[in-house]
Amino acid sequence: MKGPPAESVPLADALDAAASAWLEFRAGSALDVALERAVTEAQRAGPTHPRLRAAVLDVTTTAVRRLALIEATVDRLAARKPDPEVDALLCVALGQHFAQRYPAHTLVDQAVRAAKSRDSTDAAAGFINALLRNAQRGGAALVEALCRDETVRFNAPAWWITRLRKSWPKDWRRILEVAQTPAPLILRVNTRRSSCERMLQRLREAGLDATRIGEVALRLDRALPVEQIPGFAQGEVSVQDAGAQLAARWLNAPAGARVLDACAAPGGKTAHLAERADVQVDAVEMDPARAARIRDNLNRLGLTEGVRVIVGDAGAPQTWAAPQQRYDAIVLDAPCTASGIVRRHPDVPWLRRPTDVALLARAQARLLDALWPRLNPAGRLLYVVCSVFPEEGARQVESFLARHADAISRPLPRQAAGDVAVQLLPTSVVASAALAASANEALTDDDAPSEHDGFCYALLEKSS
Ligand SMILES: C[S@@+](CC[C@H](N)C(=O)[O-])C[C@H]1O[C@@H](n2cnc3c(N)ncnc32)[C@H](O)[C@@H]1O
Repeated sequence: MKGPPAESVPLADALDAAASAWLEFRAGSALDVALERAVTEAQRAGPTHPRLRAAVLDVTTTAVRRLALIEATVDRLAARKPDPEVDALLCVALGQHFAQRYPAHTLVDQAVRAAKSRDSTDAAAGFINALLRNAQRGGAALVEALCRDETVRFNAPAWWITRLRKSWPKDWRRILEVAQTPAPLILRVNTRRSSCERMLQRLREAGLDATRIGEVALRLDRALPVEQIPGFAQGEVSVQDAGAQLAARWLNAPAGARVLDACAAPGGKTAHLAERADVQVDAVEMDPARAARIRDNLNRLGLTEGVRVIVGDAGAPQTWAAPQQRYDAIVLDAPCTASGIVRRHPDVPWLRRPTDVALLARAQARLLDALWPRLNPAGRLLYVVCSVFPEEGARQVESFLARHADAISRPLPRQAAGDVAVQLLPTSVVASAALAASANEALTDDDAPSEHDGFCYALLEKSS
């Protein structure tokens, strides 16, 4: 059992704010939005510990990673559904119970304290005490019984599991298992300011072990806040999954090319394009606040020259580009279900509804159709989604090719003959012992990093 760090945030305070975040998240808000509101609410109510945000993030994420188990436990042990505020506090406390971070009596004591700190939960302090103790008594046998249900075992809604099983009859289990592993911290080295060798040396000097897993991708052996990553503030590295780093590599835009990065925030791919070659990039983003993050990132990396950040709808280029404007290359990193990045965003399966897949697929088709006329003859469009649902990936690209006679599918590394896209299913060296054993071989292949999130890529060329 890992104990709490010295001078840590009182667990009761973290549970209290995490319960507020949980309530809002279960009402449909993204976890980061719910978390920000809960922390702000706690700060307004009085002085808080400087590390409260980090503690609440940890408590809520720990609970989301076990959401189905937690809710099944409450269902099993409570005679009736508790009031929403009580339920939320119980859920985040049960998250800590299942993660086994604290001695049993400490957890119960702190949860009861948190309950007594609010009028809405005060009267339920005894109930919370009893339910937590019952869960503790139930131990591994209770967990085992509840895990007979697939939604509990894989921590995903039934429709999500069904869809994955149908799409990936051989791989669906592995996809769901990887989604439950902690995501590694992957860095992208800014080759304008450093090199993989120099960064590896720098990290080693700071006592951090790292491994090169892609062209400029380094996997850190333990996660840490960005402010503590050597060279981050100086723009020598960025945080970006190794699968996402394939976009700039596979588009391979040459110096002088005019490139459009549609749907660009927070600018990971924009920056990588500009790091690799002296290209002229238009980075289009619909959300002004997120567009500001592209500028911040480019400033940090020293990449302001040659990049224009445009706030606009990539699906309506006539609103932000001159009628004659064409590009040599386009990256369309389209909005999607994010079903390929669940290990980084465990709230995703619980926020989506089954109808979202078709809705997002329609939005992706609209973006593809609107941007295609903006590509020069012989130009290339790289289509990307961080999804493992074929409707957003290969099926989407097949429909596009059927609609556009002047589009040719160009094979990407690892793309099977006859396929129009390459689907990277999420992999994790933590989840796969076999992969870990062969990691050293995989490390040298820049087109096949040993560890990455789930992405679908397709390269489409316009006939000249
Ligand atoms: C998958 S993220 C892009 C990540 C980014 N390419 C990177 O590598 O850092 C999708 C982004 O598209 C933006 N977006 C969604 N629909 C859009 C549209 N119609 N036009 C422009 N941006 C859009 C979202 O606000 C979001 O920031």
